[in-house]
Amino acid sequence: MDFDPEELRPALHRAADWVADYLAGVGAYPVLSQARPGDLTAKLPASPPLQGEPLDRLLDDFESLILPGITHWQHPRFFAYFGITGSAPGILAELLCAGLNVNAMLWRTSPAATELEEVTTGWLREAIGLPPSFRGVINDTASSSTLYALAGAREAVPGLEVRRRGITRSLRFYTSAEAHSSVEKAGLTLGVGSEGVVKIPVDGEFRMEPAALERAIAADRAAGHLPFAVVGTVGTTSTTSIDPIPALAAICEREELWLHVDAAYGGAAAILESQREILAGCERADSVVVNPHKWLFTPIDCSVLYCRREDVLKRAFSVVPDYLASADGEVRNLMDFGNSLGRRFRSLKLWFVMRAFGLDGARERIARHIEWAQELRRWLEADPDFEVLAPSPFSTVVFRCKGGDALNQAIEDAVNSSGEAFISHTTVRGAYALRIAIGNLRTTRDDVRAVYELVRSKARSQTSYSRATSNPSVR
Ligand SMILES: Cc1ncc(COP(=O)(O)O)c(C=O)c1O
Repeated sequence: MDFDPEELRPALHRAADWVADYLAGVGAYPVLSQARPGDLTAKLPASPPLQGEPLDRLLDDFESLILPGITHWQHPRFFAYFGITGSAPGILAELLCAGLNVNAMLWRTSPAATELEEVTTGWLREAIGLPPSFRGVINDTASSSTLYALAGAREAVPGLEVRRRGITRSLRFYTSAEAHSSVEKAGLTLGVGSEGVVKIPVDGEFRMEPAALERAIAADRAAGHLPFAVVGTVGTTSTTSIDPIPALAAICEREELWLHVDAAYGGAAAILESQREILAGCERADSVVVNPHKWLFTPIDCSVLYCRREDVLKRAFSVVPDYLASADGEVRNLMDFGNSLGRRFRSLKLWFVMRAFGLDGARERIARHIEWAQELRRWLEADPDFEVLAPSPFSTVVFRCKGGDALNQAIEDAVNSSGEAFISHTTVRGAYALRIAIGNLRTTRDDVRAVYELVRSKARSQTSYSRATSNPSVR
């Protein structure tokens, strides 16, 4: 027997109040958890309880034990990596999703879950300006979406018959030196090997060089390797650069290679008419990934893989044992388009988010993030102590304090250990760089100004400290 629903009800009410209070007051927490490694483990018993415990006690322990070990991604001053938001409509949908606990592996195992996935991914496709020839499937992450797209690309190679024979040739695919690590991981998982993931150099604005790509493909063919795909990025993780997708598409068409575009972060901006150009050329791609759980206010996880050749994806993945066979006619069984059989009802939250904000509401919010990032960039450019290191086409600014790597690392540590804001870093042309990414719905212009002031004040105290102590490690 499960818990009596009448026992669950007050716990749900308490949890609902907790979440609403949390969101109202999240700004008061230190953004980056101040926990040390092992803190939580030391407070928990090594073995599970023999006797069941009341739900209220679990909620008590959630507050007292778990919360100190939480880094607050919902915090308005979360500027690290890419800022995200589990928005109110998304949270509501997650609750209902847990209540239903459906597995959308087959159309019949929840027709509404399958059909809502088709409808919501169709809405998003229209909103970002991709043509209807793309069909969407929701995966957990862009890492999975890219892995599946490349499995489709491998399946598409004529005569390779990888599904039947396994890997019999030395395969190669191409991506930029700035591509996300998930692209390389997909190559490792697919048995292409790290040597098979060819990193193409970038230009001065961190975009893949098409001429270098052409040269690499020709050299690989001459050496007997088999090129099968190119992965371009719209919004790279480090600097948010945009690869020249139209040029990559032309090369892929000529060379008969699958073009996959990783627009996990940047794709969301294309809902703005003024930003539509960022996806130019994607209509010629074979697959594109966009993550609503990054910059579209949908609670993690929700990654949409759009594919123009769904038949190939299905050929790569579909295995239908007797116990999963269904005679429902011309329906889409979502288990056929990826590795996992079980699938969460993720489209419910995308539906709630898109309806609750409306396209106009979402556009307004994303436009503000971009506007504030441009403002932050101008403050940094006007500040003689700082230099901006890359263009900022989206809502992320990459910069450093003039000085050495250790100084910038010390500034980052000082900002983050203050608990007032959380920023992250990357490497730009070999130098340690700071990143501020705006993407949380609770962030205001004042928060952006505050993080700029905080970085400035930490930079000043680091430089005066290093001058006073002549400490070479922070120069
Ligand atoms: C450009 C890009 N692609 C892919 C990913 C991986 O996303 P996920 O965590 O959904 O696998 C990221 C993560 O930040 C990213 O920035």
